[in-house]
Amino acid sequence: MSSLDYDRVADAYHRRYAQSPMPGVARALNDLAEAHAARRILEVGCGTGRWLEALQAPHRKLVGLDPSRGMLLQARTRLPHVPFIQAVAEALPLAPASFDLIFLVQVLHHLADPVQFIHAARRVLNAGGALALAGIDFHAPDFVWYIYNYFEGVRARDEARYPRWEQVRAWMVEAGFEQITTRVVHVTDVTFVGEEVFGDVFLSKSATSQLALLSDEAYEAGLARIRAAITADPLSLFQTHMDMVMLVGRCG
Ligand SMILES: C[S@@+](CC[C@H](N)C(=O)[O-])C[C@H]1O[C@@H](n2cnc3c(N)ncnc32)[C@H](O)[C@@H]1O
Repeated sequence: MSSLDYDRVADAYHRRYAQSPMPGVARALNDLAEAHAARRILEVGCGTGRWLEALQAPHRKLVGLDPSRGMLLQARTRLPHVPFIQAVAEALPLAPASFDLIFLVQVLHHLADPVQFIHAARRVLNAGGALALAGIDFHAPDFVWYIYNYFEGVRARDEARYPRWEQVRAWMVEAGFEQITTRVVHVTDVTFVGEEVFGDVFLSKSATSQLALLSDEAYEAGLARIRAAITADPLSLFQTHMDMVMLVGRCG
């Protein structure tokens, strides 16, 4: 399956947080860090640094890791004092037991081998440390995303690349994580009416991996279908309903 080169979208990526800052995710991460008295915190797939920025506190040592140089350069402009490592999740170049909390947000579906990453994270966490995995629940029964109705092949590709959260939980148990909890940390629930949809930041080709992975022709064809729907009915509704879930497990 093709994967997205995040260097190509790095400049535009952070715009999503102007439309949708998802404060519930930041709150959940801060609560988790406090509950685990985490001082050494690693974000894997940190991208442009949205969540590390929210976790900044004098008593915490934050580290970001991402394979994309373009995303890390963006993160550096926001967090000049945070060390960043260019590497992949499956081969963490970090000492055993060197972190109290490792987390990732919207990254698991990009990993060639998520099981290898979960084992690598366990090695890098100290005893009692926590691993938090957050992402959209694309398999939730009430999941709705208008993009699927207009852009061919996007739904099928997502079904193949997003593991189910029950599966992720099973991987964590196998790797030795305990006391695993799952909760919804943010709900996106928005409906655009007619032309308003063109103001949706997630409709831009560089805003999501779903659209960025399409050819230019396939992307334009999807936009043309949206325009046709609005021509037929100027009050066409374009709905999104997505849950962001967070699984947390503790190293036994
Ligand atoms: C959807 S973005 C999420 C960025 C950030 N976590 C956020 O929520 O804003 C996915 C990120 O995963 C990174 N990524 C892709 N493959 C990866 C891998 N094998 N290991 C670690 N990160 C990876 C990408 O470079 C990109 O920055």
